Amino acid sequence: MKSYSYGPTLVTGGAGFIGSHIVDKLVEQEIDVWALDNLSTGKLSNLSKSEGKKNFNFIKEDLNNSAGVKKALEDIKVVFHMAADPEVRTGFETPESSYKENVRNTFFLLEEIRKSKEVEKIVFASSSAVYGDAKVLPTPEDYGPLLPISAYGASKLACEAYVSSYCHNYGIDGYIVRPANVIGSRGRHGVTWDFINKIKKNSQLLEVLGDGKQTKSYIHVSDGVEGFFHCMKKSVNKVEIYNLGSEDSVDVMSIAKMVVKNMDLENTKIITTGGVDGGRGWVGDIKQAHLDIAKLKSLGWSPKLSSAESVDLASRELQNDL
Ligand SMILES: NC(=O)c1ccc[n+]([C@@H]2O[C@H](COP(=O)([O-])OP(=O)(O)OC[C@H]3O[C@@H](n4cnc5c(N)ncnc54)[C@H](O)[C@@H]3O)[C@@H](O)[C@H]2O)c1
Repeated sequence: MKSYSYGPTLVTGGAGFIGSHIVDKLVEQEIDVWALDNLSTGKLSNLSKSEGKKNFNFIKEDLNNSAGVKKALEDIKVVFHMAADPEVRTGFETPESSYKENVRNTFFLLEEIRKSKEVEKIVFASSSAVYGDAKVLPTPEDYGPLLPISAYGASKLACEAYVSSYCHNYGIDGYIVRPANVIGSRGRHGVTWDFINKIKKNSQLLEVLGDGKQTKSYIHVSDGVEGFFHCMKKSVNKVEIYNLGSEDSVDVMSIAKMVVKNMDLENTKIITTGGVDGGRGWVGDIKQAHLDIAKLKSLGWSPKLSSAESVDLASRELQNDL
């Protein structure tokens, strides 16, 4: 098995939710880290733990500025590519955003990586959305055909293809990670975050998008970040794809009830919108998602928390954040 030591590392989207947790972990391990972010949704306050450490650097830059990305890649050996438009829900109205922010900017980044000739490894945050309405649950990495049902899922699948081809052509190792719903402190989207926000505005009524029966896997960001690192440290092949999730799934109505309970509320009325297309929360919402995580587990990683435990912990953390 390949042993791996990190060199200077760039984290795109490093001021975002998952990116900032990755940055903190790398900084803790005394690796020289550059967090690159355009701060469109990311926040410098997410990086307060690493701020001031001598091996931490922040670059305010947009991935669509190739000159800036080129400069940011000087001497970089490892890239965690986390920057994206991560919204599934808005893709129906504005599909162009996931094309530009995800497909086009990933291509721009890969082009600069190719030209730099320094980068040895890229870890790419794809998504379980590439599976669309999978007919096999839990869904393994080799499930196909991959037929995404959202612009976001489509964009991530296109990015995976570019990452794979650049790795094969230009001597780079690539780790494509397909996370389930990642939740925890600093999160700024997703169902748990949405419910807490809604309740903070009106504690009497919580509206659940869809029929509330959508059932998916949730992984706490602490387990998720360990998974990202594990893929990279233990992979043998040039390009590998890994699912990253918890062992089980939980339905949206149970999440709503858990959030209400954790906010110490008793009289919040929970209603469902009924949703679209058989109870989906929005067009492009996957109703049943559960990843088969046997591949990553076979490398020695396993999640510490179940889906429900992850939601329970994240809903407590997010209450303090928001
Ligand atoms: N959170 C999840 O549940 C989840 C699940 C599966 C995959 N992912 C993927 O993981 C990655 C991180 O997601 P997240 O939840 O932390 O999202 P996030 O929005 O918190 O982080 C994304 C970061 O990228 C930055 N960014 C966006 N466009 C940029 C650009 N053009 N140039 C530079 N920076 C830019 C944003 O400012 C933000 O800080 C994304 O690629 C997302 O698609 C997330």
